[in-house]
Amino acid sequence: MAKLTIHANSPKHIINKNIYSHFSEHLGRCIYEGIWVGHDSPIPNTEGMRNDVLEALKALKIPVLRWPGGCFADEYHWKDGIGPAENRKRMINTHWGGVVENNHFGTHEFLRLCELIGAEPYISGNVGSGTVQEMSEWVEYMTFDGESPMANLRKENGREEPWKLTYFGVGNENWGCGGNMRPEYYADLYRQYACYVRNYGDNRIFKIACGANSFDYNWTEVLMREAAKHMDGLSLHYYTVPTGVWQDKGSATEFGEKEWFQTLQETMKMEELLVRHSAIMDKYDPEKRVALMVDEWGTWYNVEPGTNPGFLYQQNTIRDALIAGINLNLFHHHSERVQMTNIAQVVNVLQAVILTEGADMLLTPTYHVFDMYKVHQDAKYIPVELQSPAYTMEGKHLDQLSASASMDDSGAVNVSLCNLHHSDSLEVECDVRGYAGSEISGTAVTAGSINAHNSFEAPEAVISEAFTSYRMDGEKLYVTLPAHSVVTLRLA
Ligand code: AHR
Repeated sequence: MAKLTIHANSPKHIINKNIYSHFSEHLGRCIYEGIWVGHDSPIPNTEGMRNDVLEALKALKIPVLRWPGGCFADEYHWKDGIGPAENRKRMINTHWGGVVENNHFGTHEFLRLCELIGAEPYISGNVGSGTVQEMSEWVEYMTFDGESPMANLRKENGREEPWKLTYFGVGNENWGCGGNMRPEYYADLYRQYACYVRNYGDNRIFKIACGANSFDYNWTEVLMREAAKHMDGLSLHYYTVPTGVWQDKGSATEFGEKEWFQTLQETMKMEELLVRHSAIMDKYDPEKRVALMVDEWGTWYNVEPGTNPGFLYQQNTIRDALIAGINLNLFHHHSERVQMTNIAQVVNVLQAVILTEGADMLLTPTYHVFDMYKVHQDAKYIPVELQSPAYTMEGKHLDQLSASASMDDSGAVNVSLCNLHHSDSLEVECDVRGYAGSEISGTAVTAGSINAHNSFEAPEAVISEAFTSYRMDGEKLYVTLPAHSVVTLRLA
């Protein structure tokens, strides 16, 4: 049995809803096919964007959507993607599959997408192969209200009013695909580029510096030391690769209990990353003014057999649901410093919440966890203490239970619980301090097997369902979590 103490009598800071943000790149079938089908498509669409995907994303209450990359961002020249579609430059997407990029989805289309789904835009600018002027003009084009060369160009292209733009990334992975830079060199470039990312009128830009690759703590140290006062956020990228080996990452669907355990073990490394990167940031910024933004995370498997290796298309099982739940719990626990995270990527790429095939669309197990967890958006963080039995495999141990809790505006407590075990259920004894209510309800995402996933033939094999395996006994709440499950209880 696991024991969980939930300190509902002392709610703390707000869990920034932006922890529930997403990422969309010009990669494989994320933008093209996944979102953009064009005005003349037989697939029902709104201004070229498919209606089924728009509706599903809107329902998820995505706070922020990041675009246009990823590695693509550092070779994207925004002026190629404005003006009449037929005149837009055709280029090669060299990073991702060598396919033709016709630039039909550009700045106007992305910002319209954000309006349609109710998300705020987060734009990544080009440091690796772009100029200071190009970046500066992009911000002017989007946000300047009045007479200026870029504002006039925007108006010629049909948009009179400026957009509101808050989140702007100055480069992406500049230690790798964004220019192979050393941190000292990037820190200087960041200071230079960021200087020309202007606040026009009332618009206030939240400037985000490119952060570390996983365990590269030196990158965070140098960036904080040299440039912290010029930034509002510093990013961090960490992907869960089951084998830990990029050359053969493992299959998304064909795996046994050993790979299941290993994947969860790899994902738990996020905890160490949050602790250690935050500790470095604390040294230079004890007030926690600079946000830690995990703007790429999620699982990365071998691509589905027969698909373009450059398209990063993978299936999504109940294992991905667990990965989502575990990471979201970790982000809640570190939400004093972690202000935004963006799972990669929103449609058809990596740990996507949506997959499409022609006119068909399905919601993945990861979608259902995000949907269930959205009650934590902008809720007050509630500290929890847990004593968990060990989940053991070949001499390695993990806690079998992962948990987090928050209090919403009405005073209701939402508790999210993940049972990591591949085959065993778990009894949890909860001591909910300060809870005097009696209305309890639950939702669960689970499945009959660890490989269960949604296919276009069976799109609802893994969904969220009402959960009732709990009982109050005196002051204590007892919950029985099915094997490999993610559960959220609402205590009102
Ligand atoms: O999400 C796929 C790629 O992963 C992104 O383009 C890049 O930033 C990261 O390496």
